[in-house]
Amino acid sequence: MNRRTFIKGAIALTAAAWANPMIVIDAAENFKWWQKKPVYQIYPKSFLDTDGNGIGDLRGVIDKLDYIKSLGAGAIWLTPIYPSPMVDNGYDISDYTAINPLFGTLDDFDELVAEAKARDIKIVMDLVFNHSSDQHPWFLESKSSRDNPKADWYIWRDEKTNWRSIFGGSAWQWCEERGQYYLHTFATQQPDLNWENSDVRRALYDAANFWLDRGVGGFRIDAIVYIKKPAQFVDGTPDADGTCSVHNMTAALPGILDFLHEFKREVCDGRDIFTVGEANSVKPEDLPQWVGSHGVFDMLFEFSHVNVMFPHGEVWHRAELYKLSDFKQALTDSQRATRDSWYPIYFENHDKPRSVNNFFPHGSDKTLAAKAMAIILLTLRGTPFIYQGEELGFANVAFDSIDDYDDVSSRGQYDMARADGFSDKQALRFVHRFSRDNARTPMQWNTSPNAGFTSGKPWLPVHEDFKTCNAAVEDKNADSVLNFYRRLVSFRNASDVLIGGDYAELCHDSEELYVFTRTLGDKKICTAVNFTTHDVKLPDKIFDGAKKLFGNYPDEKNYLRATEAVIYGN
Ligand code: GLC
Repeated sequence: MNRRTFIKGAIALTAAAWANPMIVIDAAENFKWWQKKPVYQIYPKSFLDTDGNGIGDLRGVIDKLDYIKSLGAGAIWLTPIYPSPMVDNGYDISDYTAINPLFGTLDDFDELVAEAKARDIKIVMDLVFNHSSDQHPWFLESKSSRDNPKADWYIWRDEKTNWRSIFGGSAWQWCEERGQYYLHTFATQQPDLNWENSDVRRALYDAANFWLDRGVGGFRIDAIVYIKKPAQFVDGTPDADGTCSVHNMTAALPGILDFLHEFKREVCDGRDIFTVGEANSVKPEDLPQWVGSHGVFDMLFEFSHVNVMFPHGEVWHRAELYKLSDFKQALTDSQRATRDSWYPIYFENHDKPRSVNNFFPHGSDKTLAAKAMAIILLTLRGTPFIYQGEELGFANVAFDSIDDYDDVSSRGQYDMARADGFSDKQALRFVHRFSRDNARTPMQWNTSPNAGFTSGKPWLPVHEDFKTCNAAVEDKNADSVLNFYRRLVSFRNASDVLIGGDYAELCHDSEELYVFTRTLGDKKICTAVNFTTHDVKLPDKIFDGAKKLFGNYPDEKNYLRATEAVIYGN
């Protein structure tokens, strides 16, 4: 869809609507369903446990559909719910066309799709196609000999290279039965599939079609940049420890798009679904090859704005204080690169720390920070992805010992920091700051024990702030983060300017403010956010006739206070 179509399709906003942002206006007709409403991401293991085993389940998701509906979401992305030994919490799949009994049954799943549909919500599945579990029958067969029918379904080599897996340690694992190494980009138990083999690709496409035939609304496609391997397996330039990140050797190699065009033809074409690929390393300037009319996906989670802290790759102890101008530049580049296509806006997911800790300086007010991020999330151009708990203003946890962490990557990062000479205490501090478990603590539903998440022992401790930060308490408070989200989403879903308007950044060099406008015809919206803990002067004139529509402070000044965020409109 190009810009002219957006403008043609837009319905003029009335002055009355601007004066009262709660007046609902039909969104432009020319947008697809997945462009008009946010997606809500659920990490089922931590969402709601209905059988008391301490692990969330599909019935828990069904129970909370009205809550999700109240947020104005049009789709739910479920992280993997397939059978899995759960080494990487479901990203190690042992059967692509079944449901993990921990989460429920296929009947529960069908009921979830139907109940969601009754509420105009689609269910989106996570496809993990770079690797399977080492317990998948395909791998068990592949590893059994060098000449079985699936011998070539994974990446086997006689020699290993100096590649380091993303979770730490060698990316190669020795296999006695074959007398060979296999490649694992992530954990040892996640062997990489061989996409050069057309039988592998066929089996994966069949799995995707199995779920589409059950009525799912699309896919989030995991770690997809790694599916193409180099022609030669050679050592890469080593870091100080002699290893080289596998990411540097295999991410987004030439030829990958041929595989993905085939995936699109075999799975997506002709279906009313959306796809969003996860693509660490794709640069904003490469986005036109990946998304839109010439691309392979509808949207791409590229990492440029969340990687500003990791100039040396995703090794947590080499993270740096981020510069606001780098963060803004990354977002602006992505917004520009997707002007003729579409962008998935996100600040949190199951792999990232909580935004209120991640993007704001120490000492910032948590509620203001959560609302400020909501304002950015819902006013940039693209589909907003809200991660469970983000709408309640969840914050990071800090467990006392590395043994309290479940996440395979946190333990790998801790070991890497220790091997690099950091003390236990320092290594634990990096884990506190960036651990993926920050995002995986159980949902906080109410003030009852374990925040109403489970009647048993939760698989990961509940955040200690749950008595004040939970859905029931926030539901009753008109000024809560939750109700702020609800108002903002309903405003965004009804605003043609926010759905289709052009993006432009102001005050680019400021290390204190993020200011941008969205413009459609003569209608304008401006978002201004103060990322500091002190007052900051606003530009003299935002634009003619600008009036405050939303803000995280009740009143208005001609400057922005600590962590203040405002949406102006004309
Ligand atoms: C993606 C997932 C992450 C998982 C990894 C391996 O990055 O988001 O949670 O560990 O892929 O599948």
